Amino acid sequence: MERSDSLAALVARILDAIGQAGGWLPFDRYMNLALYAPGLGYYAAAPGVLGRWGADSDFVTAPELSPLFGMTLARQLAAAGRAEGLERVVEFGAGSGKLACDMLAAWSRGDWMPREYAIVEVSAAMRARQQDATATLPPDVRKRVVWWDRLPARFDALVVGNEVLDAMPVQLLVRTRHGWSERGIVATGDTARPFAWSDRPGAAAPRRSMDALPVGAVTETHAAAEAFIATLADHLRRGLALFIDYGFPAHEYDHPQRDSGTLRCHRAHRAHDDPLWEPGASDITAHVEFSGIARVARNAGMEILGYTSQARFLLNAGLLDTLRDALTATGDGGPAPPDRAGLALAAGVQKLVNESEMGELFKVMALGRGVRTALAGFAQGDRAAALDG
Ligand SMILES: C[S@@+](CC[C@H](N)C(=O)[O-])C[C@H]1O[C@@H](n2cnc3c(N)ncnc32)[C@H](O)[C@@H]1O
Repeated sequence: MERSDSLAALVARILDAIGQAGGWLPFDRYMNLALYAPGLGYYAAAPGVLGRWGADSDFVTAPELSPLFGMTLARQLAAAGRAEGLERVVEFGAGSGKLACDMLAAWSRGDWMPREYAIVEVSAAMRARQQDATATLPPDVRKRVVWWDRLPARFDALVVGNEVLDAMPVQLLVRTRHGWSERGIVATGDTARPFAWSDRPGAAAPRRSMDALPVGAVTETHAAAEAFIATLADHLRRGLALFIDYGFPAHEYDHPQRDSGTLRCHRAHRAHDDPLWEPGASDITAHVEFSGIARVARNAGMEILGYTSQARFLLNAGLLDTLRDALTATGDGGPAPPDRAGLALAAGVQKLVNESEMGELFKVMALGRGVRTALAGFAQGDRAAALDG
């Protein structure tokens, strides 16, 4: 479908949803359609969305930035898998399949390999991209990769999700002098600008920390991400789950100075703040509110095994050893990479851990059920206590 045709079809689909909802659509339902409407939404239609700078893409994620991200996660998961006798990895929202490929390649060079690598992906276009990417793996590795359409009733696994919670629809709430209003979308009747904001009074604020926000502040609440964690907790009989994403605990999320929230859009490696502009053409994302994720996980009987910055986690989990190994020899004992490739690896490490790049804004949270092994990634600098602060 031509871009203009799919834009028109998605606008019509959203207008229809607004009509069916009685003229006002909560923002989370708009975001869900803009990102995931089958065949039309940003993730559902756009196979180019994530990738490297200069490629036909909109943003870059850690696995796209450096293979060392996946190689270091692979170390951590292999250690936990070996210690706990867990033989399955489940990845949610696998994007281009890069993380899956990097981890499987790393495991195939070592002494641990999952029996099964299951991917759960809501977008058919992204799933096709993952199938293409994993088709390049050696046959005995590739045959372990499967796609799950739904979660099995009960399963044991090492779970991983990189930048998946931030891609789940959020509600928008606005503080007024009389309490909280929910921000939604109405139709304008203008084809050039078909949608406008409209606030409805009488919304409930789910976080106590939201009291700190001033009148006029806009923020997000995260029912979809929290429901996702509750569902995962329902199905995960034994194992652990690592979620890596940008975000904060509640008291930082609701800092009085963060009065315009965290909702952002990305298109062609530029950020903008207008999710109503050409739906389906930009990514829409919000930071993760990790205290809410922890609360839901605990209520569902899971433990918080750790919470720290991406920099801390990766350094604790052996990022620099992984870099050294990659610089001195290839995994199969071959020669070291040439200077330029070595420099690119080192530059990738810098981006992953630098405070002003991904190192501090991105966090790693580990949830667990029925596992005893302490994870090396949280050996120093665990900030789980901040989730309750
Ligand atoms: C921002 S991309 C990140 C992709 C990849 N993990 C990476 O780091 O490059 C978000 C991915 O999560 C998927 N996704 C969103 N919600 C999901 C859900 N509830 N279950 C599984 N996948 C989901 C999207 O389709 C997309 O592939």
